[in-house]
Amino acid sequence: MCGIVGYVGTKDASSIVFEGLKKLEYRGYDSAGIASINGDLDIRRAEGKLANLEAKLREAPLEGHLAIGHTRWATHGAPIERNAHPHADETRAIAVVQNGIVENFMTLRAQLQQEGHEFKSDTDTEVITHLIDKFLAEGDELVEACRRAFGELQGAHAIAVVSKQEPDKIVTVRLGNAGGVIVGLGKGENYLASDIPAILEHTQRVIYLEDREMAVITAGGVSFSRLNGQAISKEVHQITWDPISAAKGPYRHFMQKEIYEQPQSVQSTIRGRIDFTTGQVSLEELPLTPAEAKAIERIIIVACGTSAYAGQVGKFMIEKLARINVLVDYASEFRYRDPLIDDRTVVLAITQSGETVDTLAALEEAKSKGAKIWSIVNMHGSMAHRISDGAILMQAGPEIGVASTKAFTATLADLFLLGMYLGQLRGVLSAEESFELATALAHLPELAGEVLAEGYNDYTKLANLYHKQEHFLFLGRGPNYPVALEGALKLKEISYIHAEGYPAGEMKHGPIALIDDHMPVVCIVTQDHVYDKMISQIEQVRARNGIVISLINEGDEEVAKKSDHVLRIPKAHPLLTPILSVIPLQLLAYHTAIWRGADVDQPRNLAKSVTVE
Ligand code: AGP
Repeated sequence: MCGIVGYVGTKDASSIVFEGLKKLEYRGYDSAGIASINGDLDIRRAEGKLANLEAKLREAPLEGHLAIGHTRWATHGAPIERNAHPHADETRAIAVVQNGIVENFMTLRAQLQQEGHEFKSDTDTEVITHLIDKFLAEGDELVEACRRAFGELQGAHAIAVVSKQEPDKIVTVRLGNAGGVIVGLGKGENYLASDIPAILEHTQRVIYLEDREMAVITAGGVSFSRLNGQAISKEVHQITWDPISAAKGPYRHFMQKEIYEQPQSVQSTIRGRIDFTTGQVSLEELPLTPAEAKAIERIIIVACGTSAYAGQVGKFMIEKLARINVLVDYASEFRYRDPLIDDRTVVLAITQSGETVDTLAALEEAKSKGAKIWSIVNMHGSMAHRISDGAILMQAGPEIGVASTKAFTATLADLFLLGMYLGQLRGVLSAEESFELATALAHLPELAGEVLAEGYNDYTKLANLYHKQEHFLFLGRGPNYPVALEGALKLKEISYIHAEGYPAGEMKHGPIALIDDHMPVVCIVTQDHVYDKMISQIEQVRARNGIVISLINEGDEEVAKKSDHVLRIPKAHPLLTPILSVIPLQLLAYHTAIWRGADVDQPRNLAKSVTVE
């Protein structure tokens, strides 16, 4: 998704903004630009990667101590320089950057053209510039002109505006959910960003704008108001991440770093939430009495992509541990199907970014129908985190790679804790069972570390053999079926190989027609209650000359003999096995993408946080 960075203070504004935009590259973009004020308003824009903008800035540097910048992920208008942000008005007095979509831009554009405004781009964003220009011409000050212009817009937006007539301020607004609007507080300088990594090296004191809130940022301070002009005060949050954890470190890619961080991130998400001597779980961000827990009749999990697959694993965990009926629904479907929910339903959103527009809309829909809304979220202070009645923070640290990895496994650990928590409150989980489950959970980080140990599995051999394949199938049963879905998603989103995940039992109902000696089939066949069923699936694939890559528990010679290749994991509690079985699939996708020379951290067409429909 698009990214915004702003700075006002005493330093070289465009350099700070440019470095901030680089920290937002993971969000996905296809053009970029910066506007700075130094007596005059000056703009540099370039299509493609930030390196192109950097070249322009080297040729013709921007001066000044106030600037805003933007990385654009094209929606309306091709990703060319003319459509890149910032957009200036005809007199080049103001410049605007925006995340989101002006849903009524055609009407506004026609109206403004009728009033004599000439448009230079194909974007929806440019209407904002001309609206502000119009209200300035009517005599408004910048803030008032912006307020009136923002009030005309439909859709979700994050916007920043600067003007050479009022060269000391940045005006910004959050309308709906188009990604975060974060104000960073410094000493004699202040910042604006769509996401924390962009300003983390400068400040860890941040303020989050809520829907329909504005901020006026100057070097000396920041004032906040609602869109209707009412002044408000805002809470300052202290970010606990350190800048290093957001950097790549010794790894080649963020995705690689985040895969190898999983023993720590699983440990971090568990820490402080379970007493390993008793097995007692406490989730302080999700306070519940036993009566409230017993009153829950159903949990509906809403999410997108990887988070939705984590939710499908969570269904097994919560139903087994808490004996509560769980339905998992894609947020993009849930929000439009007029769901049957009431105050005995909990709607649980799973979202790493906390800003996915479909997931936020699903939460709003649930809230409007009287359901209690919870979220499992990684980004502290994100929209999902703030609108939920209760939340579990993944505490996985920043996940920068577009392909989600550590957020998936942290979520599974959180769902397991949630199942135990609810089971204990509802009195359906005994002290002995809790102790056993806690012990199984305690071993997970070290088992994950074993899977990640050098030489434990040979991914390079498999990637070398199969990186030219056009298709892959992933099969699993029970909690490993969603892992098959996730393994397929990882492979397709970073290597661009067509891959499908299937419940293994479905093979005979059609997909088996796809099997031949060109089809690698990854079979997740760990030693659980459907182990024998999976073995017969492997036989069916072999009978049709399919290439069998089995993901097995270490030491399982029986399945190894029936397979062309094996990937191994240590044995674990069946409900916790998905935290381990996903790791070899993440690494298979990673190494395959490397062999294909793909852009692992920023795959084509993808964004880290999908804040538009
Ligand atoms: C996963 O690798 C993808 N990047 C994508 O499916 C992602 O999981 C999905 O967009 C949901 O994102 P969220 O968890 O931030 O809501």
